[in-house]
Amino acid sequence: MLKFSWSCVIFITLSIGQSCSKKDTAQHTHSSKTTIADSAMVVSARKEASEIGLQILKDGGNAFDAMVATEMALAVCYPFAGNLGGGGFMVYRTNDGATGALDYREKAPLEASKTMYLDKNGEPNPKLSREGSLAVGVPGTVAGMFQVNEKFGTLSMAKLLKPSIDLAKRGFMITAKQANMLNRFQENFLEINKDSILFSRQFAKGDTLKNYALANTLERISENGLSEFYGGHSGQILIEFLSDYGGIMSLKDLEEYHAVWRQPIEFDYKNLKVISMPPPSSGGIVLGQILKTLEAYDLKQLGHNSIKYIQLLTEAERRAYADRSFYLGDPDFVDIPVDSLLDSEYLKQRMISFSFEEATNSKDIEHGEITGYENDETTHYSIVDQYGNAIAATTTLNGAYGSKLYSSELGFFLNNEMDDFSTKPGVPNMFGLIGAEANAIAPGKRMLSSMTPTIVEKDGDFWMSVGTPGGSTIITSVLQTILNVSEFNMSMQEAVDAPRFHHQWKPDEITFETIGFKSKLLDSLSKRGYKVIQQDSKILGKVDGILRLPNQKLEGGADHRGDDTAVGF
Ligand code: DON
Repeated sequence: MLKFSWSCVIFITLSIGQSCSKKDTAQHTHSSKTTIADSAMVVSARKEASEIGLQILKDGGNAFDAMVATEMALAVCYPFAGNLGGGGFMVYRTNDGATGALDYREKAPLEASKTMYLDKNGEPNPKLSREGSLAVGVPGTVAGMFQVNEKFGTLSMAKLLKPSIDLAKRGFMITAKQANMLNRFQENFLEINKDSILFSRQFAKGDTLKNYALANTLERISENGLSEFYGGHSGQILIEFLSDYGGIMSLKDLEEYHAVWRQPIEFDYKNLKVISMPPPSSGGIVLGQILKTLEAYDLKQLGHNSIKYIQLLTEAERRAYADRSFYLGDPDFVDIPVDSLLDSEYLKQRMISFSFEEATNSKDIEHGEITGYENDETTHYSIVDQYGNAIAATTTLNGAYGSKLYSSELGFFLNNEMDDFSTKPGVPNMFGLIGAEANAIAPGKRMLSSMTPTIVEKDGDFWMSVGTPGGSTIITSVLQTILNVSEFNMSMQEAVDAPRFHHQWKPDEITFETIGFKSKLLDSLSKRGYKVIQQDSKILGKVDGILRLPNQKLEGGADHRGDDTAVGF
């Protein structure tokens, strides 16, 4: 990777509206500040984490170094989703144009079985796959960070972990949104854990929270390396803790866990090249299917969030999610016909039944026929460094605070990622997603994900890094954000702020955010046969992104729906 010397130049915060066409963005209801930087930027769910990542860049580290520092800082100050007890995915593009993807997704424990969540009548018990010890997949985050450091790091893990250790000891400030969330889950925490935990009290905005147990765990990892977590002292504490709660994870599970480098899903959309996460995430393929379906239409002419635009996206989403449900799973266990699913002719055929006159019914849509096989919580952050490397990373515990099971000795929550498997064919998971055999539980298998960390190139150069939490709505939120900029000339911040909608085949309904859609528009869609859902205070995702502007500066998009913050220099 090439490095060039840089001087810390300017960091300006200005109000939005610079590069946008007001005509196209008439439906905006929120205006956030946008952040512009000369050469480097970090955007994440918390100011502290963004600043820790940026400091690593200022110290001469690259985007991969900053990734490790940011991810670990999120584990400290954003326990809702930031984690040591979960997993994630990362897509990168280096300054010489090389691309790749890292899979540090959790795995089913070796003792897991296809029917482990079914009762004696063969019905799934969602509580078991969502709460407590049986919901926990083998965590991948620590392995992921060591992999990144080994392949691309220029600074030591000790240096990258230090700011998070200090933050855990010094304490971080609880924001209003965070206090609200923690308080909401207080009863859950007390119900699922045998004793009270660090997070099971009432919080108020402005409280400082110190997590010495987590600081100690990070210190031990810093001193002893990867094996500390995957079999060493911390690993043993984890397995004893889970066993005490009736868990099935063993030291062998930890010892055998590896993060995996994978080939990203890459495809062209008009003048853009999209690089996104391959299976075991469905993100890249489903995003590709939808974008390649839309390629045949003039979206600008339809107009942003117009009736026809919503119909078209909905119908493309309906068909892509039907394919997701049938074909996608862990590529180490199932064959996935990637090229066929992304084939333009196939996607065109899938839209033959679509008309602007009337909604297609999901009952009439199944997965497409492929001829022959080829051999609510998560968090996203984007980083671009001063050397021109870019990463997009999405990491998760699955639900808010994962399984809610918290190891007070280690200082972190454990995921409930097992619920992302299809516990029984046709039965929806926490996000209403339906799966089939391809995503059935098997020992050591990774559960299918929707996480969509994505990098977009324009004219052969880095253009955008983007991603979001939101379960099944992740893919459609990333989709709309890319389209908002590429088709409707919004700035990165406007694209992130713009109101969003979502359809996922089943249930057969379009979910709209509460703010930003006129009732007349929703009525017109209902008249055309669409079931329209608009719940109180519904938000879809918390998108974070970075855009390279024509003048080569970087623009951050930090979602106002959360406490997300862009910082740069
Ligand atoms: O991997 C997935 O698709 C889910 N576990 C993501 C969960 C999520 O985004 C929750 N956030 N709202």
